[in-house]
Amino acid sequence: MKSPSKTEQLLVLREQIVPRGPYNIVPYFIESARGALVYDVDGRELIDFSGGIGVLNVGHCHPKVVAAIKDQADKLHHTCFHVLMYEPYLTLAQKLCGLTPGDFPKAALFANSGAEAVENAVKIARYYTKRPAVIVFENSFHGRTLLTMTMTSKTHPYKLGFGPFAPEIYRMPYAYCYRCPFGLTYPACDTACADYLEEFFINHVAAENTAALVVEPVIGEGGFITPPPEYFPKLLSTCREHGVLFVADEIQSGMGRTGKMFAMEHWQVVPDMVTVAKSLAAGMPLSAVVGKKEIMDAPHAGGLGGTYGGNPISCRAALAVLDVMAEEHLLSRAKSLGLKLKERFDSWKRKYEVIGDVRGKGPMLALELVRDRESKEPAADEAKALVKFCYERGLVLISCGNFGNVIRTLMPVVITEEQLEKGQ
Ligand SMILES: Cc1ncc(COP(=O)(O)O)c(C=O)c1O
Repeated sequence: MKSPSKTEQLLVLREQIVPRGPYNIVPYFIESARGALVYDVDGRELIDFSGGIGVLNVGHCHPKVVAAIKDQADKLHHTCFHVLMYEPYLTLAQKLCGLTPGDFPKAALFANSGAEAVENAVKIARYYTKRPAVIVFENSFHGRTLLTMTMTSKTHPYKLGFGPFAPEIYRMPYAYCYRCPFGLTYPACDTACADYLEEFFINHVAAENTAALVVEPVIGEGGFITPPPEYFPKLLSTCREHGVLFVADEIQSGMGRTGKMFAMEHWQVVPDMVTVAKSLAAGMPLSAVVGKKEIMDAPHAGGLGGTYGGNPISCRAALAVLDVMAEEHLLSRAKSLGLKLKERFDSWKRKYEVIGDVRGKGPMLALELVRDRESKEPAADEAKALVKFCYERGLVLISCGNFGNVIRTLMPVVITEEQLEKGQ
């Protein structure tokens, strides 16, 4: 009898000692990776169009990031920023304050995960405004902690059975033009979905009770939904009128993913606070809240922080990421990658009935699959089958969308032409 492969052995162990809660998309175990390629324990080579869910814009194990991590690991792993400070925290904070939209004094706070950054942004907004409520959107994803799970829209699998949820979270429809929640069509609708915020303040939560509106510029997990140009400027102006803070969750869309450093730049909107994580430190756990200094400074000393937030190794990795982005012109590479993908996806849409919509910004691009273009019945099983078909042939692709019928691209921006061609 044939002896089991390393993958088969590890799968048995995985079943035994890891709960089923943390879902696995591809049943392979990866040993090493470089750029846009990953190699598994049985010697399989795969092209990675997922980038660990948008974490690897500079690619797996970029030599400059590896060198920075090794150098810092030799010097200092941890002191806890609250106990003893270190320079990489400040250097990175300074750089992020310069890179996020807005020409005003800013400050940056570091944490470990995207969810923690969102939690901190909400804490800061509540403290600054002295108001409790937070407005979020349908299709949004903000994390898996109690507050961020509450802020997240999709019930299965993120919320089912995990209630009761955190109070004072209010949800508005989003500008999902392909499936307009108001049954309208752009541009004839005149972005009524953005005007609706005024009505929302009357029917759902008073503006005077609302600390912040937290929104993803391009909705990530919820299906790469990309609002029209008027949407965010309108929302921002209503927020300003009522003293509600505008927080952009750029955890998936930031760090060059859309061809600009931060996706809100496409709408020329300057948020009060931005949350950043994922591609910030190329796989090292690090997230940030960057915002107006006056707002960031509101909470009292000791009110924010944590043991590991802004760990020196993660900060050095992030500084290396920023160097790589500049040296290798990754924003312009992302733009041209986005154009290439869009052209290919549009041609597929003309050819394949199952593709109902092609959308996104830059290489943060997606295909929404439908059973029928008229009824727009979501083709979730087909999306699942496509993901499986691809990984069995050496391409890692992931889906998203509240119906699970959207295929998204989050490949490293450093992907070579040859790898891209092969993957497509
Ligand atoms: C927009 C957005 N916000 C927050 C999060 C949560 O980040 P993390 O998984 O690091 O907690 C994610 C993760 O996918 C995200 O896409």
